[in-house]
Amino acid sequence: MTTALRSAPAAPFMVKPLTPLIGAELIGIDLAHVTPAEIGAVRAALLAHKVVFFRDQHIDRAQHIAFARAFGELEIHPATPRDQGEREVLRIAHGPDNRGVENAWHSDVTWRETPSLGSILRAIELPEVGGDTLFSDMGAAYEGLSEKMKVFICGLRAVHDIARVFAGRLGKQAEELHATYPPVEHPVVRTHPETGQRLIYVNTAFTSHIVGLSRKESDWLLAHLYEQAAIGDYQCRFRWAPGSIAFWDNRACQHYAASDYFPARRIMERVTVAGDRPFFTP
Ligand code: SIN
Repeated sequence: MTTALRSAPAAPFMVKPLTPLIGAELIGIDLAHVTPAEIGAVRAALLAHKVVFFRDQHIDRAQHIAFARAFGELEIHPATPRDQGEREVLRIAHGPDNRGVENAWHSDVTWRETPSLGSILRAIELPEVGGDTLFSDMGAAYEGLSEKMKVFICGLRAVHDIARVFAGRLGKQAEELHATYPPVEHPVVRTHPETGQRLIYVNTAFTSHIVGLSRKESDWLLAHLYEQAAIGDYQCRFRWAPGSIAFWDNRACQHYAASDYFPARRIMERVTVAGDRPFFTP
């Protein structure tokens, strides 16, 4: 007997939560032929569960892009080679010559003025074992803080900088990257534009410091906030299989790709839906 639940009476597929807080598998939907009603229901499930998963979806790049486009405009990542056919696709490929580097808690592209709404990640080639992706609920992380800490951090702003990760990865100087993507400020706690939930919005990959604090204070506070993502109670963990797809709400959760499969190969393709400017509503 299945424990699957429907998120709403009209949901045209089964919604099977992975944990009470975060993550749900959507069962009985074919991403090659989605209807507008299904797109609406996927969006509702994404808002409710922060990350949703699909199994046995053997779609191609064009279908991947078409599915993502149903949720909004698509981004082009600066790490995508200029001569790649479909520039909306970010290929994340690791193997014996390049160990996985996405094993740090982060939200995608918070160095943008308008970081993404969400990312849709498709498995292309997987190791026999390992390479799971973990997701952490930033609303639960905020709620778990003491009331005094919540008051202190609400209204603070932090700087996010592309160069922290991509200067090294793209072999560029920080100044060169900053000409196109200058460091940006975002609220430390953002209000979700659709659900109204408060969410911790700093991450180890891209946040450099909190505005108005000394370096020591900022480092201490950021370390404390980063630790919240690593609390097991706020997380779910997804084991990939051929045909698996994950779609996360980049505003509401952080993710961590376990890089335990080295030297095996793991190849993924990500299409990212553009978002809006983060804000905090007092
Ligand atoms: C990413 O960090 O966007 C990639 C996650 C993964 O490869 O599982």
